[in-house]
Amino acid sequence: MKVAIGSDHIAVDLKASLIQHLKDRYDVVDAGTDSGQRIDYQDVAWKVTQMHAAGQCDRGILLCGTGVGMSLAANAAAGIRAVVCSEPYTARMSRLHNDTNVLCMGSRVIGHELAKMIADVWLETAFEGGRHKTRIDAIMERRQHGEDPAAPRQAVE
Ligand code: RB5
Repeated sequence: MKVAIGSDHIAVDLKASLIQHLKDRYDVVDAGTDSGQRIDYQDVAWKVTQMHAAGQCDRGILLCGTGVGMSLAANAAAGIRAVVCSEPYTARMSRLHNDTNVLCMGSRVIGHELAKMIADVWLETAFEGGRHKTRIDAIMERRQHGEDPAAPRQAVE
């Protein structure tokens, strides 16, 4: 599996730790940034989501101070289902039920060892499909048509 990992300036050290941890088991691509020089998280999020759209990675991991900015930016991209995680349970469920393809974590929220545990479970867990797929397909279809994914599927009398 090809995994693109990007971070903003706040999470450069966490990115280096995760790359080291994953590189022997996955085809890891470092999407930057590589210094503490201030950058906008969305620039890295867009780079990784474009790589995903182009088939250059199967999954993305995006790191910033909280993980929130990265998830906001990633979820604005076509075909992306990003989740912010600070513990392994949500990471696992987000794969089982939501087929998430981008994992966001915050370097100001969790330590390196916990981030490695979260990344491992998220990368190892397969999507369950079934009724969960039907729900995701509906959301992605609405997004594709520029509709509000939270709108009811049928008019309520
Ligand atoms: C950068 O200061 C910070 O805003 C960013 O790392 C992230 O936490 C945003 O969600």
